[in-house]
Amino acid sequence: MKQPIFAANWKMNHAPADATAFMRAFLAHFGKRQDRSVIFFPPALSFGAVVGALKDRPDIQLGVQNIYWEDKGAFTGENSATIARASGAKYVLVGHSERRHIFGETEEEAGKKVAAATRAGLTPIVCVGETLAQREAGETEQVVLRQLRAALGTVSSADAGNAIIAYEPVWAIGTGKTATPADASAVHQAIGEELRRILDSGSLAVPILYGGSVNRGNAADLLAAPEVDGLLVGGASLDAQGWASIVLT
Ligand code: PGA
Repeated sequence: MKQPIFAANWKMNHAPADATAFMRAFLAHFGKRQDRSVIFFPPALSFGAVVGALKDRPDIQLGVQNIYWEDKGAFTGENSATIARASGAKYVLVGHSERRHIFGETEEEAGKKVAAATRAGLTPIVCVGETLAQREAGETEQVVLRQLRAALGTVSSADAGNAIIAYEPVWAIGTGKTATPADASAVHQAIGEELRRILDSGSLAVPILYGGSVNRGNAADLLAAPEVDGLLVGGASLDAQGWASIVLT
């Protein structure tokens, strides 16, 4: 049986007081259980509030939405992987499409962030995905696998084997358009094959999540699709009760 991963990417939502209220409501719906992993990615300034709200729930994990690749220094406005780790994060999102497309992050920079995360003992969740134009041009696999190689190429194959991958087609993020379970499976399978080449290993322990307009209505079908090991959810993770029902899928 799969042990699915449910990751909530809050993006720039939920101030500390909202985050605390969310957690109170969410924990009332979600008791401790061993058969799934739940990870929250709050905004940096609400991170401490979520740590406090989860002090009695070590079963629930935390991650940051972004890091800078240097370990410390004069980089106004940034947070390092070391700071994130010391604050209680175990995971970091790297290469999210909003970072790539709104903030102009390059594939090379994603690689540097994976290396920084690894040095600090954070697990990177490497997000890859094609735009609509790239999909329509038949370039989905080429783009996704190139992003994957660039992100993981900065670390040893042993360290790459500790990463998590999230396939998030750009055209499906925040748009209400979801990849079909079959579309997701096909790309996940290609990612899995590439990972086996990168890791030089026949068996694959790297989970591959799907993200992009996941909601209560489609979560179960996406999760049941072959090669889908979990879900990375934005908009539908913002409501405590709705998120609890997705996590309990
Ligand atoms: P969405 O976002 O669920 O709102 O489409 C997913 C993501 O960006 O991780």
